[in-house]
Amino acid sequence: MTRIALIAHDSEKPAIVAFAQRYSEALSECSIVCTGTTGKRIAEETDLEVERKASGPLGGDMQIGAEIADETIDAVCFFRDPLTAQPHEPDISALLRICDVHDTPLATNEASSQFLLDGLLDLDLAD
Ligand code: PGA
Repeated sequence: MTRIALIAHDSEKPAIVAFAQRYSEALSECSIVCTGTTGKRIAEETDLEVERKASGPLGGDMQIGAEIADETIDAVCFFRDPLTAQPHEPDISALLRICDVHDTPLATNEASSQFLLDGLLDLDLAD
């Protein structure tokens, strides 16, 4: 089963919830893992089942990064806020880096997340 990580900084949480709602049919066929607060919002505002890691500032990005190192995650949609400094920026940089180390597809905004998910779903259909 395709396993997708969904993460959003605070200003982007409404956008990732709307994204999850828009793709809920496809996402319901996937295993979804989220950082804590993103996962809480998606669980509350969609019918999707999500696995929640710790909140980002408390280590959630690193927990997801560990799964990427284990190659158990197929793709990451990370709606980042480019305008606000994050207290856990080193963890975020580490997450981006480990995606590159393992050639794990990573989208860092809504538009690229849409392409990523569309591409993944096409691939799955072709399987
Ligand atoms: P959150 O973490 O979903 O717990 O807010 C996201 C992040 O800041 O990386």
